[in-house]
Amino acid sequence: MALRTHNCGELNKNHIDQTVKLSGWVNSIRTHGQIIFIDLRDRFGKTQIILNSDELIKIGKTLSNEDVVFIEGKVSSRSKDLINPDLETGEIEVLVKKMIVLSNAEPLPMSIQDRDASSEEHRLKYRYLELRNNDLQKNIIIRHNTAQTVRNFLSDNKFLEIETPVLMKSTPEGARDYLVPSRVHNGRFYALPQSPQMYKQLFMISGLDRYFQIVKCFRDEDLRSDRQPEFTQIDLEMSFVDEKDVRLIVEKLLTKVFKEVINIELKEFPILSYHDAIEKYGTDKPDLRFGITIEDFKTFSNKSGFKAFSDCESVRIISVPNSEFFSRKIIDELDSYAQSLGAKGLAWFKVNNNEFSGGISKFFDSNLTKEIIDNLKLEDNSICFMIGDKLNTSLQVLGKIRSKVGDLLELKDNSIFSPVWIVDFPLFSWNEETKRYDSVNHPFTAPKDSDLGDVTSNPSEVISKGYDIVINGYEVAGGSIRIHDHSLQKDIFKIMDLSDKEISEKFGFFIDALKYGTPPHGGIAFGLDRLVMLLAGVSNIRDVIAFPKTTSASALMEEAPNLVSEEQLDELGIKILDDEKNV
Ligand code: AMO
Repeated sequence: MALRTHNCGELNKNHIDQTVKLSGWVNSIRTHGQIIFIDLRDRFGKTQIILNSDELIKIGKTLSNEDVVFIEGKVSSRSKDLINPDLETGEIEVLVKKMIVLSNAEPLPMSIQDRDASSEEHRLKYRYLELRNNDLQKNIIIRHNTAQTVRNFLSDNKFLEIETPVLMKSTPEGARDYLVPSRVHNGRFYALPQSPQMYKQLFMISGLDRYFQIVKCFRDEDLRSDRQPEFTQIDLEMSFVDEKDVRLIVEKLLTKVFKEVINIELKEFPILSYHDAIEKYGTDKPDLRFGITIEDFKTFSNKSGFKAFSDCESVRIISVPNSEFFSRKIIDELDSYAQSLGAKGLAWFKVNNNEFSGGISKFFDSNLTKEIIDNLKLEDNSICFMIGDKLNTSLQVLGKIRSKVGDLLELKDNSIFSPVWIVDFPLFSWNEETKRYDSVNHPFTAPKDSDLGDVTSNPSEVISKGYDIVINGYEVAGGSIRIHDHSLQKDIFKIMDLSDKEISEKFGFFIDALKYGTPPHGGIAFGLDRLVMLLAGVSNIRDVIAFPKTTSASALMEEAPNLVSEEQLDELGIKILDDEKNV
């Protein structure tokens, strides 16, 4: 028996008088005397069906929400006053002639329509039910449309989709690896890819020229609202390119995705150096949907009577509109927030009628006030926030205050998308804890040609050919032009304090590969989940992943990770030291 001729979202007045078959979930039931109205639901929509014979009403009375039913009936028009303009199928209803209950649903442990009624833990436990929710299904569809658009675009542009191994040797991307013990080689481990970085470079050495993959990556790191332990990258690599070539293809790809998936035209892709991003926004992930930039205030605070700033390495300021919004309570909250981020406090004053008031205003005489207003172009009716501290702290904390103020004043319009390239990252950062240089991006990133001479002699000054793309404060993609010279690659590992032995054990095969004719190459990887978050307008990465992990990296539904049997451990040659062990 055919279970449907149409889905629940497609019938309209063109189908009136047709006999149709529908199957779906009982979304809601309303009884009016001798008529039962049911909204029948599937992925495609809802259709109102009507039971009005004794026999059907008898079945109808046994139904409950989320039962799965089949019906056959005739499409008829709704009377004018019953038309529902919010529903695709709102002009019609189906008069049921035959109904079969395909599957009864027990009372559900959670509400499908009202996700907020259950805790997230509870919802994740019953994720397969939560995925019946319309908003989540919309996100899944956006994810699908994004992936398809990406595939088509890259394939049309001569990229080959090639799979890379999941059981591999670790690639250093800065996080801890997920390890997989080997049964055949006791005591040895595979690592799950933090990214397919070396493989994609090897494809370029193989002459495959353009590669892409929509690929799972695994990183054991602290989780946040935009991070998952397993996440998906749109990973790509190109031969014979420089930074501009990569930027161009990425801009075309993003423009296409935003247009096709959510009908938004992305127009500009400004470029900001890492240095300027930090100086102006206190972060390399600036949200450019709104203005407000950080300025230097040291020369002015030095002339003031406010002595707490005189010994500070740096004093920075932001000027924020709508001073009247900032009550004492809100200012105090911002001050505590700044302190929680490591600042000693958050100084402030308001600017009204060319005068400062409140906060530390009394330390500025009228001449200095005028000089500051003129130089920093402070607007009337604004409030200024200042932090004096070490340079990094003053910039970083003020960057976070900027972002918080953006939330408070609702300056982050979700219908606006502001992409920006961040370029000219330092190649290395000095790690105080381990007393050695770490790669800012990863160790395969090339230094700028102009800085090649400084790589070994002055590593901290070297600028890289790395680039990130940031949209609305999220790092959506990151990549670089790679090193294609084996001896430079080896030098980089040495600067990172790897011994010859470690280099050859960990990366010997890769350095060898670079010796056999390597094209200049570069690439980038998008966080697909983050991109979809932006496209779907949600702020939690779990809302765009079918079966996400919690912030403690657990899968609550199937309960992973979990204990394994003694036999499995024995085979792997693993002994658990803890008392609490095997099943
Ligand atoms: P990178 O480490 O910058 O670069 O990662 C690329 C993009 O992946 C996303 N991302 C994540 N998304 C969700 N959860 C996570 N835990 C997570 N970690 C990263 C981000 C990020 O911009 N191999 C290089 C790419 C290259 O050089 O071509 C790499 O992986 O959106």
